[in-house]
Amino acid sequence: MTAPSTSVPTTDDGQQDLPRSPGGGDPFDRDILPTPPGATAALLRSLLAPMKARVALTTFLLLLQQAAVQAGPLLVAYAIDSAVPASRADDHGPLIAVGVGYLLCALAAGGLQYWFIIAAARVNQDVLLDLRGRIFRHAQALSIDFHERYTSGRLISRSTTDVESLRELLNEGLQELVTVVLSFVYISVTLLWLDLGLGAVAVASFVPLYLLVRVYQRRAGRAYRIRSTAIAAVIVKFVETMNGIRPVRAFRRETANDADFRVLNSRHERANGDALLEMARYVVGSRLVANTAVAGIVLWGAYRVAGGSLALGVLAAAVLYLRRLYDPIDRLGMFLNSYQSAAASLEKIAGLLAQTPSVPEPSTPRQLPALTTEHPGREVVFDAVGFGYRTGGEVLPRFDLTIPAGQTVAVVGSTGAGKSTLAKLLARFYDPSAGRVLLDGVDLRDLDVPELRRGVVMVTQEAFLFSGTVAENIAIGRPDATHEEIERAAKAIGAHEFIAALPDGYDTDVRKRGGRISAGQRQLVAFARALLADPAVLILDEATSSLDVPGERAVQRAMQTVLHGRTAVVIAHRLSTVEIADRVLVMEHGRIVEDGSPAELVAGTGRFADLHRAWRDSLA
Ligand SMILES: Nc1ncnc2c1ncn2[C@@H]1O[C@H](COP(=O)(O)OP(=O)(O)O)[C@@H](O)[C@H]1O
Ligand SMILES: [Mg+2]
Repeated sequence: MTAPSTSVPTTDDGQQDLPRSPGGGDPFDRDILPTPPGATAALLRSLLAPMKARVALTTFLLLLQQAAVQAGPLLVAYAIDSAVPASRADDHGPLIAVGVGYLLCALAAGGLQYWFIIAAARVNQDVLLDLRGRIFRHAQALSIDFHERYTSGRLISRSTTDVESLRELLNEGLQELVTVVLSFVYISVTLLWLDLGLGAVAVASFVPLYLLVRVYQRRAGRAYRIRSTAIAAVIVKFVETMNGIRPVRAFRRETANDADFRVLNSRHERANGDALLEMARYVVGSRLVANTAVAGIVLWGAYRVAGGSLALGVLAAAVLYLRRLYDPIDRLGMFLNSYQSAAASLEKIAGLLAQTPSVPEPSTPRQLPALTTEHPGREVVFDAVGFGYRTGGEVLPRFDLTIPAGQTVAVVGSTGAGKSTLAKLLARFYDPSAGRVLLDGVDLRDLDVPELRRGVVMVTQEAFLFSGTVAENIAIGRPDATHEEIERAAKAIGAHEFIAALPDGYDTDVRKRGGRISAGQRQLVAFARALLADPAVLILDEATSSLDVPGERAVQRAMQTVLHGRTAVVIAHRLSTVEIADRVLVMEHGRIVEDGSPAELVAGTGRFADLHRAWRDSLA
């Protein structure tokens, strides 16, 4: 197993050549990840390191097997030049020895190959298993801002197409490639030893073959890269369209999508065709070189045999060797193909694995002080916090905010004011660009995952359900919860009635027929999930937006008991939600422009008073 020596300049999916839609909303127009130099080789080393001994064993088996295979023509030469003449003189020993030797070599070659295939398959399996596991673990550990850029289509492409191309190389290509290289070495040495002149001609024929391989590699490599780019684009388009199938339907995007997809799809096929064409050229060229070399050797050899300066057996061995050597050369193109595509894939995977989370785990985590039953909440402090997304300007200019333990804070403000951003900083989806977010005086960056999970939970409007039962979905934040606890959480939030009415109640599979639940019901499940997780700080970001007014009322009533003593940040569109709050923050353009109790703000003359009046009027 050799490290890929060709450097394939992939910057992820190399989208520069792809069609762009004029709106700039092109899915391929996103930030892409360059692979740091050396990352690919380092990845390969780390994959093979735990199986050094087994790799050495498989290599050794292949060496032995090749020796057994390449002994054949030598035995033929010996038979023609020595054993047959001896046999004519009634000494049959040498001929029998040759026959037995040939048989033994064939048996050894077969047995060794069998052993090699099994040993290599085990190594390959373990490598691929490890690699796919790493991709999943790593992608899952990367921060939200990474996923916003990289898209799930790319990740799917990494763990399917790219892993598969590596599998192809490991299972077929690599063995063949190593075999060809080994036989080149064996045969060159043997031929030169048998006859310097013939050997030199054979070795000289490797030069044009080598050049041919290089040219092919370069040209097919290009076609291959375009092909892998194109297939990634096809997958990305596919996944995006199907993920967004509702808006696609709603806006009748099908025809436009079809057209986009056709472009990408045909681009992939064209690249495939180009690669095949290069392959055909290569096969024809390499055969031409090989046959010319064989013809030359036969001609010159026959001339020398006639003149008595070359033994017939040596000529026979030379021709046999060359045939053996040139036969796999046709296929060498294919191995190089899979080698190149695997190198490109490995490089992309290495690029992904080299990403570090922008929200890293602390090296020396700190503990939060213990909570008491009367005060299950924690104090939240935004200390000179400023923030901007990687792709844009400043969203939150520096600000300070203290939320005492147990307080329920409502955050209101127009769309784009920065409410969700504030919430996401508190949930540590992102780290602030400046300042610190403190939980009971401890920087969020110093909390490890379990501590953070017990500390802060955020419920958003996109209440996602995982495949599994309703009960499992509720228990995600606390997998050890009993059925009673799950039911209690659902009852507290008013979700029990609808769950009990499902075909299998709490054991209904949410992805199965009959298990379909509405957006509002999904939100109730998400609430129950958050309740059960029992965090010290609960964030609700428009989490009641899919509920009807009575549903929202019910949740609010439940919230008042649930939130009691807990610190809560409630972001809501409907001002009715604000009534359960101890304090209201009004945000505009990333700034907190009003801060006070609901009564104070309503009585005042600010933004909130206006909003509240408008809302009251709309109810009347
Ligand atoms: N993931 C993101 N990447 C870049 N910009 C973002 C992202 N999310 C939000 N923004 C920008 O940050 C600003 C505040 O957004 P947000 O906090 O979601 O507002 P709100 O929740 O108050 O509607 C907006 O201008 C929005 O365009
Ligand atoms: Mg928002």
